Amino acid sequence: MENIAAVDLVDSENYKNASRQKNKLDEMTLVLFGATGDLAQRKLFPALYNLYLDGKLPNAISIIGLGRTNYSNRVFQMNVETSLREFSRRPVQPENVEEFVSKFRYCVLDVFNEASYSGLLELIQSREQEMGIAENRLFYLSVAPNLVEIITANLQASKISETKGWKRLIVEKPFGTDLQTARELNEKLSKAFNEEEIYRIDHYLGKPMVQNLETLKFANPILELLWNHDQIANVQITASETVGIEKRAGYYDQAGAIRDMAQNHLLQLLMMTALDIPVNLTAKEVQQEKREIVEALRPILKEEASKHIIRGQYTAGEVLGKPVIGYQEEPGVIEESKNDTYFAARLYIETSAWRNIPFYIRTGKRLEQKSTRIVIEFKNKWKDNPAFKDEGINPNLLIFEINPNESVSLLVNLKNPSTEKYEPTNITFSVNSNIQPESYELLLSDALEGDKTFFAHWKEVELSWAWIQPVLEAFQEDALPLHPYSAGSSGPEAADRLLEKDGFCWW
Ligand code: BG6
Repeated sequence: MENIAAVDLVDSENYKNASRQKNKLDEMTLVLFGATGDLAQRKLFPALYNLYLDGKLPNAISIIGLGRTNYSNRVFQMNVETSLREFSRRPVQPENVEEFVSKFRYCVLDVFNEASYSGLLELIQSREQEMGIAENRLFYLSVAPNLVEIITANLQASKISETKGWKRLIVEKPFGTDLQTARELNEKLSKAFNEEEIYRIDHYLGKPMVQNLETLKFANPILELLWNHDQIANVQITASETVGIEKRAGYYDQAGAIRDMAQNHLLQLLMMTALDIPVNLTAKEVQQEKREIVEALRPILKEEASKHIIRGQYTAGEVLGKPVIGYQEEPGVIEESKNDTYFAARLYIETSAWRNIPFYIRTGKRLEQKSTRIVIEFKNKWKDNPAFKDEGINPNLLIFEINPNESVSLLVNLKNPSTEKYEPTNITFSVNSNIQPESYELLLSDALEGDKTFFAHWKEVELSWAWIQPVLEAFQEDALPLHPYSAGSSGPEAADRLLEKDGFCWW
């Protein structure tokens, strides 16, 4: 396929700013649980630093890191600086890094011990007084899922979450492990925080291209014209990865691709693709539109799961030129594990706009390439016309590349004068990825502002679990085949057949 044009389509930040009201930032305390962990080092500290460079942190912010290890404030600040040097998307600036890290303090905390929280409260309050900060507290739980309940209960018991200002709680996925555990967790969190105060992070919603889906449609009427349901044949959402399970066997062998990626990231992408652009781009309206989509998903019965769902597991192979072991040989994976490392599904949204238009979603580890993208395939009226059978006319495609590259492209057919045949050609509108902020930057910035547009509402999470629950049960009962696929391939062949039956193929 050839690229005939590459033009800058949109400066994402400008569109975002133009369409969404920016709020003034309140002074606040950010309390970070898991401050010595991987996410904090790789993503959160660099995100905060880049927000700082862009003047997007509040004028007064006290950041308190918590962990089990004993560190002095100075050592902790040095660790923060080291993580910036290693992971910040923009280089550390010697003239301001000292000022940035001076906002950080450290406190050792035993999350299980209620008494331990009184030391934390003292530190929060003394910093609030010292810096003249109102009691606005943002709690970020970058911790193992099993600690979320106990931490929120102890925040409440110790009265840290009883503030005179606002309070907000950011929680990472996974939110529960099935419908019931998610409901239980939500009920427990609701004792200390109300829905307005809970920010459920799905980092796919922080990806600039995902955030831009609605504004792109809104600001480019030509795209809205193309999004004409009568002309769409199907929608395909892919999140393929080359990595394996890294050092996360303990978690992943229980979760599988279905919980790790499908229930959250893929269904969120589906909602963002299918939603109608609300009149005002407010958080409430966007969440309402998304909820209507997930609510309208046609249920999949457990007995029928095998017709619509493909699960797979990688075997040894070669990825990006390097030999890799199979899933079952990965350290920490239980013997003969039947866990899914690949998941594909066909879904229907029962709304007047999307009725009978299939949505295909797929994700997998150890695939041939890293790519997250959404492809809208348009109806090809020449497909069944014998006169054009051999002309090589492809359906038009509208392609949103989300990761690692960001672009929007339109696949059109151009006639090659020498062969007299049509050839598929991409018209690409590129977005300059170098200047794009990272997911965590955008999401943290929104949370600091109190903008919930790109956080998952409880109803979205609950309805996603409700849709996936029968499939989870079918997996648990081993009611559908587990297709092996070689590492480095495009996934199990059965996933190709899922679309072939409908007369389509994966793009
Ligand atoms: C995480 C999953 O949520 O998303 C990981 O737990 C996965 O297993 C990751 O690798 C993929 O994210 P991204 O941004 O690299 O596509």
